Amino acid sequence: MKTYQLTVLSGDGIGPEVVDVALDVLSVASKQANIQFDVTEKLMGGCAFEKTGHPLPQDTLDACLESDAVLLGAVGGPKWDELPHEKKPEQALLGLRKALGLFSNLRPAKVYDALVDASSLKSEIVRGSDVMVVRELTGGIYFSEPRGMDDSKGWNTLAYEKEEVDRIACVAFELAQKRNGRLTSVHKANVLESSQFWRECVNRIHGDYPDVSLSEMYVDNAAMQLVRDPRQFDVIVTQNLFGDILSDIAAMITGSLGMLPSASMGKKYAMYEPVHGSAPEIAGTNQANPIATIGSIAMMLEYTFNEPESAQRINRAIDQVLKDGYRTKDIASKDSIIVSTSEMRNHIIENLKQDETSIIEMVRTSYEE
Ligand code: IPM
Ligand code: MN
Repeated sequence: MKTYQLTVLSGDGIGPEVVDVALDVLSVASKQANIQFDVTEKLMGGCAFEKTGHPLPQDTLDACLESDAVLLGAVGGPKWDELPHEKKPEQALLGLRKALGLFSNLRPAKVYDALVDASSLKSEIVRGSDVMVVRELTGGIYFSEPRGMDDSKGWNTLAYEKEEVDRIACVAFELAQKRNGRLTSVHKANVLESSQFWRECVNRIHGDYPDVSLSEMYVDNAAMQLVRDPRQFDVIVTQNLFGDILSDIAAMITGSLGMLPSASMGKKYAMYEPVHGSAPEIAGTNQANPIATIGSIAMMLEYTFNEPESAQRINRAIDQVLKDGYRTKDIASKDSIIVSTSEMRNHIIENLKQDETSIIEMVRTSYEE
């Protein structure tokens, strides 16, 4: 049986609760797929700072560098807001992305039919919308030099190199090919030279993907179009900062951040995490929505471990539980059955196991025929 190395960084706030549930789901899914995970847990974020004085200890980084995939819960919280810049949990996340070379960040925002009413937008606008935001994650204004702050000013630089744009464009075109064949490149080329350069690179790469239809949009317009008519989008590709903002907007179309998984990938490493934050206000109360982290496990099985069927089984289980009306508080509406984190876990696992039986039955009946 194949054994993979998985490093788990539960982090802060609700991180440990949602990660525990996701690992339970993974253990059922991996049995079904006949694979095995060797799980190593490490500290990262505020909890790591408390214990070691650093939010990203070397030992954590080393474990990640030796693993096939990393699962992250959430980091940060008001408790650590006043720390110096380099000790903040957010810096640990940025440092980890950079150290692992995770240049492409995939943030799917899909509206579940059962949840159309959870969105703050009208259901007729959001129904059926399914957007994949591909965010460049290790460049742009988040990382470019020079940067700094003194008494009289603060400054950052926004620069992109050809290789950085080309590789994220390739990822986005490939994804568009596998989805509905449409890619929107979002930039601000009417103002920024770095965006004019971005546009040129994406247009050139398009030559290799003639079957994908490419359009472009200024970022301000894209923000507006996302809430006006999200169904016009299939895949969006954009720079780091724009992707940060647009993925939050795309997330709200679906009604709850608690639902959205993400994958961050590079040439060698991959990290999977829910899009939501650490929600310290509900930490430890068994109320958090574990679906985004479970969905991240599904992305991991599909992208890193090439087990798309296993991923589909998990997604079907989530779908079914929502159809049955079960909701954690964050996505509840008036007719739903409100459940705790652990009840949600049980329902999803039960459905996942039933799916297994149905596969066995399918094989058996086809054999009997
Ligand atoms: C995200 C977060 C991070 C980012 C922060 C916590 C550094 O907002 O993953 O979207 O800005 O990338
Ligand atoms: Mn963000």
